[in-house]
Amino acid sequence: MIPILDLKGQYESIKDEINEAIQGVLESGRFVLAPNVEALEKEVAGYCQRRYGVGVASGTDALRLSLHALDIGPGDEVITTPFTFIATANTISHTGAAPVFVDIDPRTYNIDPAKIEKAITERTKAILPVHLYGHPADMGPIMEIAKRYNLRVIEDCAQAIGAEYQGRRVGSFGDVGCFSFYPTKNLGAYGDGGMVVTNDPEIAERIDVLRRQGGRVKYHAEVLGFNSRLDELQAAILRVKLRHLDEWIEARQERAHRYSELLNNSAVTTPHEDGDVRHVYYLYTIRAPRRDELRDHLKQRGISTMVYYPLSLHRQKLYRDLGHAEVSLPQSERAERKVLSLPMYPELSEEQIETVVEVITTFYRGAG
Ligand SMILES: Cc1ncc(COP(=O)(O)O)c(C=O)c1O
Repeated sequence: MIPILDLKGQYESIKDEINEAIQGVLESGRFVLAPNVEALEKEVAGYCQRRYGVGVASGTDALRLSLHALDIGPGDEVITTPFTFIATANTISHTGAAPVFVDIDPRTYNIDPAKIEKAITERTKAILPVHLYGHPADMGPIMEIAKRYNLRVIEDCAQAIGAEYQGRRVGSFGDVGCFSFYPTKNLGAYGDGGMVVTNDPEIAERIDVLRRQGGRVKYHAEVLGFNSRLDELQAAILRVKLRHLDEWIEARQERAHRYSELLNNSAVTTPHEDGDVRHVYYLYTIRAPRRDELRDHLKQRGISTMVYYPLSLHRQKLYRDLGHAEVSLPQSERAERKVLSLPMYPELSEEQIETVVEVITTFYRGAG
């Protein structure tokens, strides 16, 4: 069996450090928004080259609270990608604003900046790019357009902590960078968690207030807030893992490059890496002819894979009902039929990689 991800293997490799961190929190008797959260906020902000970090309950909440903090609401439009996890768009919809989907670059699967300008209207308030699979979105032109049209930029960095575009970390370009610590992420907690990073002290403060029921002082609400706190246990775990993140990213890159080397000249298209980026390979995603048959074939041989994502957001019932049905976004629609994510984690062995590649090549040779 080759799983798509092996969280147990990772835990085994850092067990003593993790257990000690958990023990420390249990003995401290402080569980929510306490010293580990504060320390993690500083550490993650520093890692992402920003001044402030605000820990929240999930990546979804990082987006949701950011949108609120930037005053995005009813009547506004936010330009984003259709080829992402639903949270990217439904957090926009929850504010009362409308997501406007712009097609993707078929090589990186990220929003295509060349198509953004056409989608801008008088209602456009922000651009929300996603750094999908760990490959940074093309932030140069995105920031240039945002500046020219005076738009906010909210980076969805859920899949890409540590990724770099022209030497700068993702999350350090926009007004805010939003991170998820969902267990499967490259920096994953043992439960839910998220963080917003920013250089703007006012935005940081607004998010801090929003996450604690809208008040700076307990039981004194200033604005309509939420309960969205990061807990100490998760923060303590994440602080341990953050110390290993770069070595894990390097291990992912090595494994990704090995896959690509072995799959070169096969029937599948291996992931593209733009020049001057650090791709952190949250997922190793190929484009495969007869994708569903290949997936079954791999499954029968004990290799698990996933399709991220099988249905573009504008084609989901939710957004069809909201009138997005007529939009044609051919690159996203093509990608949803072809993409397949292979097993990828720092502990993946050379032998496992060779097995996966062997099963793929024999499938296309018709010898499977
Ligand atoms: C691109 C993207 N955005 C947002 C999220 C939401 O994060 P969370 O699951 O922590 O709420 C995720 C992941 O789950 C994601 O992959």
